[in-house]
Amino acid sequence: MKKVLVLYFSQSGQLQRILERLVDGLKTHPEVYCDCRKIRAIKPYPYPWSFYRFFNVFPEAVLLDGCAVEPLDLEEEYDLIILGYTIWFLSPSLPVTGFLQTEQAARLFRDTPVVTVIGCRDMWLIGQEKMKVLLADLGARLLDNVALTDQGKSLYTFVTTPRWMLTGKKDSFWFFPRAGVANREIHAVDRFGRRLAEALEEDEEQGNGPLLSGLGAVNVNGKLIATERIAHRSFLIWSKLMKKAGPPDSIGRNAVITIYACFLLCLVLTVVPLNMLVRKLVSPFRKKSLAKAVAYYEQPSGR
Ligand SMILES: Cc1cc2nc3c(=O)[nH]c(=O)nc-3n(C[C@H](O)[C@H](O)[C@H](O)COP(=O)(O)O)c2cc1C
Repeated sequence: MKKVLVLYFSQSGQLQRILERLVDGLKTHPEVYCDCRKIRAIKPYPYPWSFYRFFNVFPEAVLLDGCAVEPLDLEEEYDLIILGYTIWFLSPSLPVTGFLQTEQAARLFRDTPVVTVIGCRDMWLIGQEKMKVLLADLGARLLDNVALTDQGKSLYTFVTTPRWMLTGKKDSFWFFPRAGVANREIHAVDRFGRRLAEALEEDEEQGNGPLLSGLGAVNVNGKLIATERIAHRSFLIWSKLMKKAGPPDSIGRNAVITIYACFLLCLVLTVVPLNMLVRKLVSPFRKKSLAKAVAYYEQPSGR
């Protein structure tokens, strides 16, 4: 019997549904036992979010200053850990970062194969880079990464995802599609579970992976690579400013958040369209380096 731990943090329940579908696939195999656990922050995060609460988590998320989480009643060790996480400001969500920084995680993850599963808007590349560092610090072995992103073009989800987070509304409106990952994509996640069950039967998790190649585990949008890198650089500067201005929910921090929101709006209306135009013009000359970057971020599972 192989023991699999499925760990996740999900607010609206979307990532939970994704993982439940993966577990459906795993359970097709009688020799696989799944222990599914939700990570819980000691001070829960609100959902839907208010504007200031949403931005108040920005500095801690970006600087990987994880929150305190409830300890979990788990077995000593597992054959495989499936870690589901969402992205908050190009970083793993605070409860997941917080859990990975506990003594319990240090014991659980050491020398253990891990498959990460992301459910987010569409910007997960830097978040996964940060996750790789967190897992390496724990001595875990990352075998695969699955990333599911919200339906619709980037420009649309830039509106539909924040609307969903701030109001709880996921429905389509005007010309905007429904928020979140498409149902048919969630439904098809059982293919990863089935493949993992087969791999566990053959002890393939004891190798260095990947186990999920050729199943469409990730789809890297090359157009977003530069945007994520640039945005993250600016996120680091603003995070430090917000943190210096005061603790969460303080007047000082909220003042910097207000300035940041105005700055962000100006950026979206001016620099972002300009940047898109410039990138379109230079893209024929950067095909090789872009393909190389895409191949890098597709690792370990590939398309
Ligand atoms: C505070 C916050 C920040 C977010 N930042 C990002 C982001 O940088 N990139 C991204 O692709 N999605 C981002 N999202 C969307 C989440 O990754 C995720 O899709 C959403 O929270 C739904 O997940 P859940 O309801 O299963 O927890 C953010 C969500 C929240 C609440």
